[in-house]
Amino acid sequence: MATINENRQFWDADYDWLEEGHEWSRAWGGADMQWYGTILPRLHRYVPASTILEIAPGFGRWTGFLKDMCERLILVDLSERCIEACQRKFRSYGHIEYHVNDGSSLDMVQDESVDLVFSFDSLVHVERDVMESYVDQIAKKLSSDGVAFIHHSNIGQYSRYYGFWKGRFLPGRFVKWLKDRNIVEPYDHWRAFSMTGKLMEKMIEKAGLFCISQEYINWGTKPSHLIDCITVFSKKGSRWQGKTRRLLNRNFMKEAGIISSLSLLYSSRPFEKRG
Ligand SMILES: C[S@@+](CC[C@H](N)C(=O)[O-])C[C@H]1O[C@@H](n2cnc3c(N)ncnc32)[C@H](O)[C@@H]1O
Repeated sequence: MATINENRQFWDADYDWLEEGHEWSRAWGGADMQWYGTILPRLHRYVPASTILEIAPGFGRWTGFLKDMCERLILVDLSERCIEACQRKFRSYGHIEYHVNDGSSLDMVQDESVDLVFSFDSLVHVERDVMESYVDQIAKKLSSDGVAFIHHSNIGQYSRYYGFWKGRFLPGRFVKWLKDRNIVEPYDHWRAFSMTGKLMEKMIEKAGLFCISQEYINWGTKPSHLIDCITVFSKKGSRWQGKTRRLLNRNFMKEAGIISSLSLLYSSRPFEKRG
């Protein structure tokens, strides 16, 4: 369970941010490789967009790419430290607005003004109540053909599995032995256990929105454990409305590995070369 307060405490105070989030792109060989190899191929239909809202930008790992794809970019994060870091990093760009929120409100954003809501590698840590609040508000903030591209947790689908290995039925030392040998998943990646892709779809429906696609993906886990999901949605009646498309993508980390193998040749910032 990751509450709003726990998220604020962790990202605002406890985390060192020494690599400004680039450390999480290691499996892809760098943030630029992850952007161009993994994120942009999934996002390209929806950019450029006149106004983009990025929820939870952290130290701006994706903001640097998004800023060149819009006329107006609104950043909202619950961490003051993250927003200050973005303000420093992007100070020469006049089209970016910065907001620290309470972890669930989008009140600072004008209704029907956003053409793309983007969040990646952040809302995987927020529980069902927060996600529902964001989805309800996104419904109000989207323009008529606006789209939301949201990466969130699906680990709730595996809660029995993770609960089992968390030692409820086995001695902790035996579980550790299994984890050390990679027989079970060693980490839950601090995913929100109250969230699943199916729940996200219900929230979208309840908010009067339309689900364009859902890609269930593994994230640092075995191909059988699709603990995350990328859900894309829009308003009902938008030009994106059609048949909802779904993919159980068990090759997501394999894709990262292939992209990583290219990074030494093509990345502007390959991990191996950074001091
Ligand atoms: C793992 S970092 C990722 C940051 C950025 N998306 C990236 O990929 O580099 C998670 C970010 O989510 C933010 N965050 C966590 N819970 C949030 C919430 N409920 N509302 C807004 N931001 C949140 C944190 O402050 C932090 O900036």
